[in-house]
Amino acid sequence: MGVEKEEIRKHIEELREKIRYHNYRYYVLNEPEISDAEYDRLFKELEELEAKYPEFITPDSPTQRVGAKPLEEFKTYRHSIPMLSLNSVMEAAEVREFDERVRRMLGGEEIEYVVEPKIDGLAMELVYKDGALVVGSTRGDGWTGEDVTQNLRTIKTIPLRTLSEALPLLEVRGEVYMPVRKFRELNEELGRRGERMFANPRNAAAGSVRQLDPRVTASRPLDFFAYGIGRVEGREFKTQWEILNYLKSIGFRVSDLVRRFEDIEDVISYHEEVEKRRDELDYEIDGIVVKVNSVEQQNRLGTISRSPRWAIAYKFQPREEFTKVKDIVVQVGRTGALTPVAILEPVQIGGVTVSRATLHNEEELKRKDVRIGDTVVVERAGDVIPEVVSVIKSKRTGAEREFKMPDRCPVCGAEVLKEGPIRRCIGVSCTAQLKERIKHFASLRALDIEGLGEKVIEQLVDRKMVTDPADLFRLSKSDLLKLERMGDKSAQKLLDAIEKSKHTTFARLIYALGIRHVGEHTASLLASNFRDMEELRNATYDKLVSIPEIGPEVAKSILLFFEQESTARLLRKLEEAGVRYEPGRKPEGEAREKVLAGKTFVFTGRISIPREEAKRKVEQLGGRVSSSVTKKTDYVVAGEEPGSKLEKAHKLGVKVIDEEEFMKMLKGADISVGN
Ligand code: IVH
Repeated sequence: MGVEKEEIRKHIEELREKIRYHNYRYYVLNEPEISDAEYDRLFKELEELEAKYPEFITPDSPTQRVGAKPLEEFKTYRHSIPMLSLNSVMEAAEVREFDERVRRMLGGEEIEYVVEPKIDGLAMELVYKDGALVVGSTRGDGWTGEDVTQNLRTIKTIPLRTLSEALPLLEVRGEVYMPVRKFRELNEELGRRGERMFANPRNAAAGSVRQLDPRVTASRPLDFFAYGIGRVEGREFKTQWEILNYLKSIGFRVSDLVRRFEDIEDVISYHEEVEKRRDELDYEIDGIVVKVNSVEQQNRLGTISRSPRWAIAYKFQPREEFTKVKDIVVQVGRTGALTPVAILEPVQIGGVTVSRATLHNEEELKRKDVRIGDTVVVERAGDVIPEVVSVIKSKRTGAEREFKMPDRCPVCGAEVLKEGPIRRCIGVSCTAQLKERIKHFASLRALDIEGLGEKVIEQLVDRKMVTDPADLFRLSKSDLLKLERMGDKSAQKLLDAIEKSKHTTFARLIYALGIRHVGEHTASLLASNFRDMEELRNATYDKLVSIPEIGPEVAKSILLFFEQESTARLLRKLEEAGVRYEPGRKPEGEAREKVLAGKTFVFTGRISIPREEAKRKVEQLGGRVSSSVTKKTDYVVAGEEPGSKLEKAHKLGVKVIDEEEFMKMLKGADISVGN
């Protein structure tokens, strides 16, 4: 090889190292050092060099995650050490018995336990040879699984090459899962397209890993947590804790809920604590796993049949329950979409009473064949709307009744149009749609009118006090006092909130209008491409689709919205009511929109970007960051393990948002955050 070419090869390898390192900072440590844009630049440079010098492409390059062609079928893969399963228990007493047994068998030695979350996904094994991922397989029956290497390579949190050290052989074990929020988005998308939806994040992960075409898997938001090892050469581990730390140091994500305890009572308290925090996590867990820390003690305890004697799964209350479908009703959404909803005999699921569950749309209803009177399995995953997972057909008596979607809107009687899998009410004055539109208009990320809850909106619409969102600004105190359970104080508070919401940003106002297909992100795109509503209203199709990320469907929907007479009337009324916004796109050279102008933020707990960076972003957008919570604070951003500021915020009634919401505010303003 020529000297020059050798230089290029070296440069390419350096770029790869950098990209791997920054992936690690971002995904594993949650502490990115560079911005999205910088990362993209590195990645693009690597792609370009590899396109020019394909002879230097290696399978472990970060560009090579999705390469291979669809498979005909999966090959089987035999694990070198069987992948065991865990005995599981539900009661504290059973955990104490486990502890006693372990202590007895170890003759009263000192014991330390490692506690990990039990992730509700799919167990996988990843084989690394000399640092490179060579095989990825499912657990299967424990002895033989399926070779899903192509698919696992597409998951960004599975390193293609281990960092800092390359052992001759290392088998990493862990769980592939789908983050709850991503699952919800994926399901919504599948529903819109009329495709089969998934019952829960776990099924979604399973369905995604078992795709023969790795491009489909690559499009699915999968993630991976490592929790153990199989065979290793070139290194010895003394404890499970050491293994977890080692895995983290070479590029794997390890849950930050892992802890060490000596006393089994502490394990039991921790179980309780984690169960309480279950809904805050972005991944589903169904319990904790308690493992004896010392590898030497583990070996002495050994295994019986398929389960180790040194570990146990201590499960939470299940989130799946059986219940009966009392009725099926139809709910009308903001855009008129009709959603079938099962009315259930109330059941407790994970501490919450569930009496309704979504059936999504007509196709799903047919597929699952849910009938009134059926006994069904209902699941509530995270803070996701409860779902009917399946019907227990063996419980049918013959008295069940099938449900047919109506041809007319159940609320206003208008005609219903079928668009693919979705039926939509086309009634222009449908009160169900109006209520949903107002709810959206007043929501946190739209005009943010605090105190305008569902009950108030119901009454305002039913009493015809509000016929469109602009009517909110005409409400007087005496109007509000006519409503049930509305005292002088809350009426005044609501009026103040309405008044305050008149000063907003262009992006928020666009979003608040509830144009179909225009979510928060698109709204902010529009706001940075148009100066004001007038300019947006006059936009042509060509102008709209010339904006990156705005496609024909969205453009058409925007045009259709502005063609409506009712839109013109609404905009006029809003203007007359005194709704004002900071203009959108600024003439060249002017500063970007100060969307957070006048807003005060306080941070508590850990977030994934350095505080300083978060502060800078807020300030760039015209906001302020303060270190203590007062009544004047607008938002408290609560990260992981928040401190007493969170309590104070609750006490003072200050709005608390999580990191994701905060990031959305920044993203909505189109500022790049971390990576
Ligand atoms: S350890 C002996 N740790 O639970 C070791 N398993 O029934 C066996 N799981 O198939 C596995 N989180 O899919 C272990 N932190 C964790 C886990 C975990 C989830 C799953 C795994 C396994 C099943 C055991």
